[in-house]
Amino acid sequence: MIRNYNFWVITDEQKETSVNLQFIYNRTSKEEIAVKDFIYSYPVKVYFGEKAAAKALPAELAKAGKTVMVAYGGGSVKKSGVYDEICGYLKEAGKEIVDFSGIMPNPTYKKVQEGAALAREKNVDFILAVGGGSVIDCCKIIACQAALDEDIWEMEFKNHIYPTEHLPMGAIVTASGTGAEMNNGAVITNEDTNEKAGVLGAYASFAVLDVDYTMTLPKKQVISGAFDTLSHSMETYLGSPRDVNLSDEIAEAVMRNVIRNIRALLVDLNDKEARTELMWASAMAENGILKIGKVTDFQAHQIEHQLGAYTDCNHGQGLAVIHPVLYRHMCKDSVKQFARMAEKVWEIPAEGKSPEQLAGEGIQALKDFVKEIGMPSTFTEMGITDKSVLKKVADTCNLTAGCCKKLSREEILEILEECW
Ligand code: NZQ
Ligand code: ZN
Repeated sequence: MIRNYNFWVITDEQKETSVNLQFIYNRTSKEEIAVKDFIYSYPVKVYFGEKAAAKALPAELAKAGKTVMVAYGGGSVKKSGVYDEICGYLKEAGKEIVDFSGIMPNPTYKKVQEGAALAREKNVDFILAVGGGSVIDCCKIIACQAALDEDIWEMEFKNHIYPTEHLPMGAIVTASGTGAEMNNGAVITNEDTNEKAGVLGAYASFAVLDVDYTMTLPKKQVISGAFDTLSHSMETYLGSPRDVNLSDEIAEAVMRNVIRNIRALLVDLNDKEARTELMWASAMAENGILKIGKVTDFQAHQIEHQLGAYTDCNHGQGLAVIHPVLYRHMCKDSVKQFARMAEKVWEIPAEGKSPEQLAGEGIQALKDFVKEIGMPSTFTEMGITDKSVLKKVADTCNLTAGCCKKLSREEILEILEECW
């Protein structure tokens, strides 16, 4: 079943009024979608750069009530000093703080319920997510669940009704890459049903992107976050339509930028300029700009999310393994797009080459890049040991409609086995 989270997957019904991204697609068939007839606006106000929190918090929280829930993960923000700094701004603004800690990577639905119960019990007026994609995602759903009587999972997945009310929230980014601060989709793991799925939740009314808050991030997470941004751009670029439009040309620039800046980090992980560029690239890939006039693909994400449901693996690493293999399977169905990506993104000279050869060289360049940046190329390198999960992933992942080829479950299993 295709889930209703249309910044990743656009279903036929959603094409009619894609209100999630707040633009409306011109529609008849998938191939006819183009950059025309859309409305674009964006609800997230971004405070970017040094000391952005000092500017954002007094200004934005002046409008909020007194009780602010500060939500964070396993403690990195306490070690780095970010937590104390943020709480300092809140106290100066006269706020009462409700602490909510322990949001884990790949946040669970149980954690959402715990946060929502706390928000209700303490009459929280505003939720401040301080962390990476996991903390921000968890808070997007806490913000909705706290304002709802019904169970949000049942409501969205059984009844196909989506929340319209939520507690207001803001996002302070301490790990960039997912772009989670820029959208209202949240990837939540339901341990009871073994699903890692996209749940529609709250938009943050503002986001703080200060690269200084990310400098304590371990190398593995810096690189996997940046690869996630590359993945979001590729999965949008390789959607429909097949012919290049303005969004594709912007995506090419984002992808080249991400590749160049990941390479800069291999020389110096603390290269602030590169980290800053990557932080903005991450937001760019998820602020809707690249998706105007596109039906996105996101098949790699759908496979990776279910892999995460069964193995709790690192998101960017899972994508790094899946992408080259998946693209080998998809390439011949959209040679022109893959050949263009080889030339414009991987900067492979086209002269004297057939489109097929060029497309293949582009996929090889992606595969080589994964190795070059020290990411895993197989599931075993990621530390996954139970091969029986592959069939479960193939049987349960969403099949997307945006790519050049709708894969069968058998072919997804083949892809997963090639990733082993
Ligand atoms: O929990 P703490 O102690 O804070 O440690 C975290 C965590 O272990 C650590 N970390 C974060 N900031 C740090 C830091 N360590 C040191 N210094 C800092 N400044 O990093 C680890 C990973 O954090 P996490 O938030 O899980 O990483 P990421 O930002 O990659 O988020 C991954 C989650 O986002 C979802 C993924 O599926 C996954 O669940 N995604 C959300 C998306 C969205 N909403 O649009 C799109 C993505 O495609 C993705 O699916
Ligand atoms: Zn992602």
